[in-house]
Amino acid sequence: MENLISLVNKLQQACTALGDHGEKSALPTLWDSLPAIAVVGGQSSGKSSVLESIVGKDFLPRGSGIVTRRPLVLQLHKIDEGREYAEFLHLPRKRFTDFVAVRKEISDETDRETGRSKQISTVPIHLSIFSPNVVNLTMIDLPGLTKVAVDGQSDNIVQDIESMVRSYIEKPNSLILAVSPANQDLATSDAIKISREVDPNGERTIGVLTKIDLMDKGTDAVDILEGKSYRLQFPWIGVVNRSQADINKSVDMIAARRREREYFASSADYKHLSHRMGSEHLGKMLSKHLETVIKSRIPGIQSLINQSIAELESELNRLGRPIAADAGGKLYMIMEICRIFDQILKEHLDGVRSGGDKVY
Ligand code: GDP
Ligand code: NA
Ligand code: MG
Repeated sequence: MENLISLVNKLQQACTALGDHGEKSALPTLWDSLPAIAVVGGQSSGKSSVLESIVGKDFLPRGSGIVTRRPLVLQLHKIDEGREYAEFLHLPRKRFTDFVAVRKEISDETDRETGRSKQISTVPIHLSIFSPNVVNLTMIDLPGLTKVAVDGQSDNIVQDIESMVRSYIEKPNSLILAVSPANQDLATSDAIKISREVDPNGERTIGVLTKIDLMDKGTDAVDILEGKSYRLQFPWIGVVNRSQADINKSVDMIAARRREREYFASSADYKHLSHRMGSEHLGKMLSKHLETVIKSRIPGIQSLINQSIAELESELNRLGRPIAADAGGKLYMIMEICRIFDQILKEHLDGVRSGGDKVY
């Protein structure tokens, strides 16, 4: 049985596929209301590294300076068996099994929109990864927050990035993965600053502390990880990603994860917290929370779906039959997907109401 997150993934794809019909219907609102996890933080705080370790694959452009210049909507789909592969929405019939090529395509597709500049664009890239080794999740990698424009960037880039990030995290259905580096004072964290604005009680912010291995000797992150420095409803999670030197030496993900586990388990400071530290734990925890959020939002999503169906129907009637093959076909397909969703969500709600343990 498919689970709720992968159903929402499909709905997200269907909404995106709507393209230029989007403005006229409730579907953009539906898209906005679908729960996802937005990754925010300062430039080079380790956002892309965190995403990569959750996926367990090297596939994102990473490094110093502004590397992520367009939002990347990343959908992870767990498959039962077989070889892992990736697909981009802008290249519908192409299956990537080489993740080096995935990274290159993200860079190339970024450049296609922004030119080879350091400019940013709000137009998202949609990437799906299918693998037996992932948990079902939708995450959005965002450009890092900065304080100053650099050469080749317009002066308002600082505000532009901030508005882009805010537009993703202010949606009440989004979870915020707030990434702060442990080798900088938490009081100066861009991630905490912006997430506090939209989620003052920390109800949907998950604090991730990176670069614990880079802290000054004699200091530790125990107060932060125990929630004593900055309180959030969710427990803080510390991670140790690969350093730039590791990346240059091509240290693989499996070795990196093992090393991360050993780091926490063998540290006198963090041993007592080690069961809830690290990328693997983070991935599992996020999937669980995302599912909880989706469940709690089902009634709202359902009413938007019904609104969309009604609007799509009237749009189809307006076009008349026989409908123009392309536009009509697309609308029809999306309407069908919405109907299926509505049905599944109804069944799910019935299961919940009757106290059944139906699990998707
Ligand atoms: P982003 O700009 O926030 O997406 O950050 P990146 O993921 O691109 O990381 C920036 C740099 O910091 C890269 O060189 C990473 O190798 C390095 N880095 C990220 N996390 C860690 C960590 O936990 N420990 C160490 N030593 N380096 C890290
Ligand atoms: Na970076
Ligand atoms: Mg990045």
